[in-house]
Amino acid sequence: MTAAEHAAAAGTATAPADRIAVALDVPTLDEARALAGTLSGHVGWFKVGLELFSAHGPSAVEAIAAYGPVFLDVKLHDIPTTVERAAARIAELGVGLLTVHAAGGRDMVRAAVSGLGDAGRVLAVTVLTSMSDLDLQSIAAPAARTQVPSLASLAVQAGAPGLVCAPKDLVAVRRTVGDDVLLVTPGIRPAGSGDDDHARAATPARALADGADLLVVGRPITRADDPAAAADAVAAGLTGA
Ligand code: C5P
Repeated sequence: MTAAEHAAAAGTATAPADRIAVALDVPTLDEARALAGTLSGHVGWFKVGLELFSAHGPSAVEAIAAYGPVFLDVKLHDIPTTVERAAARIAELGVGLLTVHAAGGRDMVRAAVSGLGDAGRVLAVTVLTSMSDLDLQSIAAPAARTQVPSLASLAVQAGAPGLVCAPKDLVAVRRTVGDDVLLVTPGIRPAGSGDDDHARAATPARALADGADLLVVGRPITRADDPAAAADAVAAGLTGA
């Protein structure tokens, strides 16, 4: 299947709003709750990241879960036993998607999948887009174009049902792992809006055409005057409406 055929098939199966994970990157639980309340029904997932989780821990997940499915983005990376035990505790919170670093290796990814069990799906992060090839060289790591596909394959072989990758890597990663893996991408900016701090942002339609299943969108929705309308506009952008 080509990337475009994948997008067409995927587009018919899932409502556009369900393809949006809104990043609740706010410091307080009150702000997160208010956003989740406003956006409930307009997005498919609420992403709780390190900021909110560091401030409020499990109560942040429990509070947000009242409004919709929770995607916990804490990018676990430790020895397999520790990751398995952490993932098992996270499973008890009712998390539907959990990120880990693919660079933790095969056994660590397998441990995360085992710990989370049927409660949710593990998403393996390939290479952080904040790392330039020079940064990678400075830690004796291969360039991203080599590392991303090999880490993607490793994670999928270890049982990860999904991956997080940058918009520019979607086509190569989709080609590497096939159609059955959930591809999640941040760095999404609606056409005509600014890029904020993303070096290479993609529009929702571009990311979908390139093979993404789920789009992580933060500030274009959360900082909009009307976050629900902004989320609806992103969803409309997915159908070309
Ligand atoms: O506000 P914005 O749409 O840029 O938010 C993007 C979200 O995706 C943030 O929560 C950020 O941590 C996350 N993310 C990213 N780029 C990556 C990985 C994660 O922007 N490479």
